[in-house]
Amino acid sequence: MCGIVGYIGKKDATPILLSSLKRLEYRGYDSCGVGVVAQKDGKIHSKKTQGKIQGLTDILKDKPMPTGFVGISHTRWATHGKPTKANAHPHADKTGKILIVHNGIIENYQEIKEALKAKGYPFVSETDSEVIAHLISSLDKGDLLEAVQKAIQKLNGSFALGVISSDHPDKLIAARLGSPLIIGVGCNENFIASDVPAILDRTRKIVYLRDGEVAELQKSSLKIFDFKGKQIKPKVHTVAFKLDAVQKEGFSHFMLKEIHEQPKVLSGMLSSRIKNKKVHLEGLSLTDKQLKGINHVFVVACGTAYHAGLVGKYVIEQLAGVPVSIDVSSEFRYRTPIINKKTLIVAVSQSGETADTLAAVREAKLKGCKVISICNVVGSSLARESHGVLYTHAGPEIGVASTKAYTAQLCMMYLLGLKLGVLKKKISKGRSESLIKDLKRVPSFLMMILKSKAKIRKIARANSHFGCFLFLGRNINFPSALEGALKLKEISYIPAEGYAAGEMKHGPIALIDEYRAVVCVTPEADTYEKMISNMQEIRARKGKIIAIATEGDTAIKQHANNIIYIPSTNKLLTPLVVALPLQLIAYYIAVERGNDVDQPRNLAKSVTVE
Ligand code: AGP
Repeated sequence: MCGIVGYIGKKDATPILLSSLKRLEYRGYDSCGVGVVAQKDGKIHSKKTQGKIQGLTDILKDKPMPTGFVGISHTRWATHGKPTKANAHPHADKTGKILIVHNGIIENYQEIKEALKAKGYPFVSETDSEVIAHLISSLDKGDLLEAVQKAIQKLNGSFALGVISSDHPDKLIAARLGSPLIIGVGCNENFIASDVPAILDRTRKIVYLRDGEVAELQKSSLKIFDFKGKQIKPKVHTVAFKLDAVQKEGFSHFMLKEIHEQPKVLSGMLSSRIKNKKVHLEGLSLTDKQLKGINHVFVVACGTAYHAGLVGKYVIEQLAGVPVSIDVSSEFRYRTPIINKKTLIVAVSQSGETADTLAAVREAKLKGCKVISICNVVGSSLARESHGVLYTHAGPEIGVASTKAYTAQLCMMYLLGLKLGVLKKKISKGRSESLIKDLKRVPSFLMMILKSKAKIRKIARANSHFGCFLFLGRNINFPSALEGALKLKEISYIPAEGYAAGEMKHGPIALIDEYRAVVCVTPEADTYEKMISNMQEIRARKGKIIAIATEGDTAIKQHANNIIYIPSTNKLLTPLVVALPLQLIAYYIAVERGNDVDQPRNLAKSVTVE
């Protein structure tokens, strides 16, 4: 999704804006731009281009931007209009005095555009965002903050906004409704950005702008107002994670670094959440009595987080005996889910900014449900809007393909299942303690798999030419198959389908021939024999099989072309262990095909629009 960075201070804005904008590249974008109020002539100057920030940097090397102490910059992920230079941000008003950057969608832009056109405002782009610049200009009576406040009253949809004006070179205005925006508080300088990593090398003091707030930044002051103009005291947070967390640290890609971080993330999570052999879920903000009263859990999530929720369904139903429903968030909000005050909504999201998941949560709250979220980003919209939040604390996830956030979400599902199971007396103290013991061994299993990554790379390379992949799993590893397929298609662009293996004969078997590869998730399981039957059916049709199997399973050799072994673990916990080889298969195939692993085409890290 689009990325915004803004700066006001005593330094030249452009280099700061470009280097900070680069840290938002992971969000996904197709064009970019930067604009400043120049010191030499007091005028607005801007440069935009289709393509990468490096292209913009090259343009600025040839024709440098004049020095300016206030500026805004943007990476655009096209929604309205193609990814062209004209559609890239910043957008200027007709006088060329006001410059804006916008993330989100203005739903009533057509109506506003027609009205402004009738008044003689010329439009040069196909975007919905350009209306904002002209609208502010049409309402500007000499007070930029006031003009922005009036303009946003007229906008329907979602926005994070950065606005500068040559009439007010000492001000940077920001506003937020439904799209993330943070403020960085520095010493004689202040920043706005779509996400913390953008400005982490400049300041750790962050104000999370909330929906319905407008901010006026000057180099040494920050004022925040609600949309009605009432001033609000800013709450400054100090961000805990270090700069290393947003750097590759010697790995060739963020995705590979994040895959390697999983043992540490899981052991950190388990040691902070398990005390005296009991699960502690600080942040849940539900009393044990309230938890015991829950008779239905409903998970809402998108993409990888949805797959974590699917595993959660198997886990919670098995450990706690509570029925679990699950919807992708975009479906939940447009149907009539059967939920009530006894339903616990569990919203799962790495970013906490996914528009569909936020909308699902709002819908559920209207129906009186308690909402808890499993979320990675501290202070995100989802965390703030949920009644309780279970932070995964996996650290910033930069790779667009989610890896460590997924296994952290899975781990939280096990902890939640254990907590509910014990409270509802569905599992004994002994079973809970033994599962906790098994959970604690998972990080070391992941380390062992990482040690065998050269073999996984070899297998991935040998199979990277296949034009189509099928991923099969059963029971609790059916979601693992879905996740394996999603990872592969996201970064390798190879069509990949995830299926419950039992469904193979109901359609996907038609795909199988010698040109297809099938990844069979086949660890120790009650359904192991059934998986073997599926593998035989694939072999009979000349399909090539990569099996993920448990160490010591020699019998599988006669069924699979390639085998990736995982350590033997509790059957219920296998999704946590098989996730890593599935991620590595996708990673190495994408690398082999020369793809941009961290910023795959068309994808955005957090999907902040519907
Ligand atoms: C994961 O690899 C994907 N990039 C995507 O499916 C992602 O999981 C989904 O967009 C949900 O994001 P969230 O966890 O931030 O809500």
